Formats: sequence, structure tokens, C-alpha cells
Amino acid sequence: MNNTTLLWELSEGIALLVINRPEVLNALNGQVLEALEAAFERIYTDPEVRGVILTGAGEKAFAAGADIAELSGLDALRGWEQARRGQRLFDRIERCPKPVVAAVNGYALGGGCELAMACHVRFAADTAQFGQPEVNLGLIPGYGGTQRLVRLVGRGRALELLLTGERISAERAYQIGLVNRVVPADRLLEEARAFLKTVLSKGPVAVRLLLEAVAAADLPLEAGLAREAELFGLAMATEDFREGTRAFMEKRKPVFRGR
Ligand code: CAA
Repeated sequence: MNNTTLLWELSEGIALLVINRPEVLNALNGQVLEALEAAFERIYTDPEVRGVILTGAGEKAFAAGADIAELSGLDALRGWEQARRGQRLFDRIERCPKPVVAAVNGYALGGGCELAMACHVRFAADTAQFGQPEVNLGLIPGYGGTQRLVRLVGRGRALELLLTGERISAERAYQIGLVNRVVPADRLLEEARAFLKTVLSKGPVAVRLLLEAVAAADLPLEAGLAREAELFGLAMATEDFREGTRAFMEKRKPVFRGR
């Protein structure tokens, strides 16, 4: 699976994906997008992969955005296609049936911030910086930034970042709800791994159904609640649910089998 622009390491069910273009601060060019598309194809289907950590190579950047050199050559139609391609990929990450953690190790700007926002949770190194600087380029975000940022931090705070293009610290990103946790840079991967291990110790079917249910939070409330009820019913048909409730009553730890 190793491709030089995206490194892949699988250990204890956790796939560690590392965007590997540190010389350009891990800017997301066509090759990186293609490699991420292939990686998520595998993540969706490979039962050996149970969780994912996404990070950037080097100490400076998670990803400093779409590759500006590549973008600068696009016309309107190609720009639209490019945005749709990035959006499709980021949607696929957001809808991944396995938990995906962004381990933001440095700059998460433009497409890099959008990529982090497409992950289920975000852990940031205390040295990380976030922003949507597209306005400085005479551009707007194209990989979901105008939509996911509003949903994560609220319209006013999103507009403040989008309209100024300013960079904010990991601490500020935490204050506004853009990241889940800020941790010392040298503990970032360890913390992301520990979080995933906790999640993976739960009933795998319930984890999957939770991800599915929370994805429905973008629907109108009535439709989201209907989806929740369906998935709640589905959970009850599983062996894991029977085991979980039996273990509770027998005062022991459940042994989930993912069925
Ligand atoms: N695309 C292409 N190359 C990039 C890049 C990007 N997004 N970001 C950085 N690089 C390159 C630089 O050109 C530089 O290359 P050279 O050594 O060949 O000159 C190298 O990475 C190192 O960068 P700097 O010398 O600029 O490093 P710095 O520490 O002085 O500054 C920075 C760091 C503030 C992040 C600065 O690099 C920067 O502002 N980068 C651009 C950030 C940006 O505007 N991102 C948005 C892109 S558009 C987008 O993402 C649209 C979308 O929504 C899909």
C-alpha cells in the first residue's frame, strides 16, 4: 500500500496514514488526493483495519492546503471539478464506517484544515495552527470549508476565520470547538492511538452504528431522529447487544464479537 506521497502503516488494527510531502508542507496535490482515495477504498473494505489516524510528515505541517502551484493553472470548469473531487473524498472520510482521527501536527490550513474537519475527531499538537487563508489568494475554500467550519464552530466564528484568513493557535481552535484536544507535540500520536484503542474496545457494531447515526446529524432533525431510531433497532438485533446487556447483569466485562 506504500506510496511515497502517503505512507501507510497498519498496527493493532489501526492504520496510520502520513501525508508525505514535507518539502511543501504536505500540500495536497493530485497525487495525495489519489493516494487518499485509494487508502480509503481499502479502509472501507479491509476487515484488518478498524481505525485510522491521519497525520502529516515532519514537524511543521499536517497539510498547508491544496497545492497552490497546481491550483494556479486551473480554469473555472477544472476548478469546479477539482472542488467536487476533493469534496467527494472528504465526504468519504467523514462517512467512513471506522473511526478516523486527525492528528494535527502543525499547519492545518485551507484544504488541510478542511481535511482535519472531515475526520471524526481532531487532536492537535500544541504547536499546530489552523486557518482558512483562501481569501488571501483571492479564492474561497473548495473542499468543504465553508460548510463544515460553520457546523463545527458556528456561523459567526466561521465567518471570522474565513473573512480574515487569519491563523489561530491550537489552544484557540480548542476554545472554539474546532479541535477535541490539544496535547504536547511529542505525545500526539500516542494520544490519538490511546483514544482509538478505547473506541476499539467497545462493541464494533455499536461503533459503526454510532458513526452512521451521527452522520445523519446533517439531515433535518425529524429525518435524523428517524435514522437514529432505525439504527437503535438494528443494534438490538445484534449478538453484541445481547452480550453487552448480559455482561452488565452478570457484573462482568462484555466480550464483543462484532456481530
Ligand atoms: N501549496 C504549494 N506549496 C506550498 C503550500 C501550498 N499550499 N504551502 C507551502 N508551500 C511550499 C512553499 O511554497 C515553500 O516551497 P519552496 O521552499 O519551494 O519555496 C515550502 O512549502 C515551505 O513554505 P514556506 O517557505 O512558505 O514556509 P513558511 O514557514 O515561511 O510559511 C506558511 C508557512 C505560512 C504555511 C506558508 O507556507 C503559507 O502561507 N502557505 C500557503 C497556505 C495557504 O494559502 N493554503 C491554502 C491553499 S488554497 C486551498 O487549500 C483551497 C481549498 O480549499 C481546497
